[in-house]
Amino acid sequence: MGWHTLLAAACCLVLALAACFPAAAATHRLAVIVDTDIGDEFDDSWALAYLLASPHIEVKMVTTAAHDTVKRAHIVAKYLTAYNASHIPIGIGIQQDDTIGPLYPWAADFPLASYPGGVHTDGVAAAAALLNASPEPLVIVALAPFVNLAALAKRFPAAAGRVTLISAMGGSIHTCYDGKPGPCPEYNIAEDVSASQALFAQTWPVHLAPIDTSQSTIDGPLFRALVAANNTADHPMVTTLLSSYCFWSQYKVCGPAGMLCCHNSTEDLFDPTAVFMTITQSGLLPDTPGLALTPLTLRVSASGETLSDPSGKLVNTAIHWLPGGEAWFHAAFIDTLLDFTT
Ligand SMILES: *[C@@H]1O[C@H](CO)[C@@H](O)[C@H](O)[C@H]1NC(C)=O
Ligand SMILES: *[C@@H]1O[C@H](CO)[C@@H](O)[C@H](O)[C@H]1NC(C)=O
Ligand SMILES: *[C@@H]1O[C@H](CO)[C@@H](O)[C@H](O)[C@H]1NC(C)=O
Repeated sequence: MGWHTLLAAACCLVLALAACFPAAAATHRLAVIVDTDIGDEFDDSWALAYLLASPHIEVKMVTTAAHDTVKRAHIVAKYLTAYNASHIPIGIGIQQDDTIGPLYPWAADFPLASYPGGVHTDGVAAAAALLNASPEPLVIVALAPFVNLAALAKRFPAAAGRVTLISAMGGSIHTCYDGKPGPCPEYNIAEDVSASQALFAQTWPVHLAPIDTSQSTIDGPLFRALVAANNTADHPMVTTLLSSYCFWSQYKVCGPAGMLCCHNSTEDLFDPTAVFMTITQSGLLPDTPGLALTPLTLRVSASGETLSDPSGKLVNTAIHWLPGGEAWFHAAFIDTLLDFTT
């Protein structure tokens, strides 16, 4: 038991709160397909670890999205192997060009051909086949520009119709990046506007975690607890995650004392917030002080803004946190990573 767990247990006992983290081993898990542009911003790496570590989630497939989807597949394969989750199939999404962010060299040598779970070269078709064959409802956790999801809807409408929910990071309603007033073109929406518009044209239910609630970082004692677990035998997931994090940040130095930035704090946790939304909205963690979802009718403008429009798509949008919700998320996220064992 980590000290967070002890703390959580103590809070359960002493304060008799209705819900405390981490939940006991879940009896039912939410089955998800994860669509990720891992390799650019690091939040996808945090989110993938969070999904795999969560006792409430079962990852059925990971598809790679946007720009160089093959390079992203190398990164996913390396992570899944390190996390003892190499039974999970990987689907290579639509390849747009050969650009990718600074994490790629970390995984460039990682072989795809021998990956146990299989790597599907047509990831959209593989996701469709999984949807068609699945006996249980599947949620898509969408952490990237919506290139693959638009293609899924176009090429495989019957499979797309079987998607229970798209739980996505994306959009900007009242707040843009760094607290500036919104709406503004948020990256996942604006990177491929026609794909985003196609996503919004479908009947599938959509939950959206926009910039309004998803731009936050973790530093201080919570982050130090994670760093303390780096390179310890009990925490192989944290060790993989934090060494790839410092690789990704290219060992950039922050502050006058010459500290590595990656030893001080996370960067923005956009995608992990969408994962938290997925977990808390699944009904598997009742009474969590999480995100409040507000039904909004939204359309995607030509410049990639998510604008209020009475004839737009009804989207349950996380525009604000319930009291204490963000702090709860931060603690639950770190605790989930620290508690993970395979
Ligand atoms: C994966 O399994 C190996 C062998 O049992 C173990 O040493 C390692 O710690 C595990 N990794 C994780 C992330 O649990
Ligand atoms: C974690 O450990 C690795 C070495 O395995 C090191 O390169 C990295 O700087 C450490 N990261 C953090 C955040 O402590
Ligand atoms: C540590 O992170 C916090 C929050 O991101 C930031 O305000 C602070 O300047 C950072 N300190 C150093 C030494 O980088």
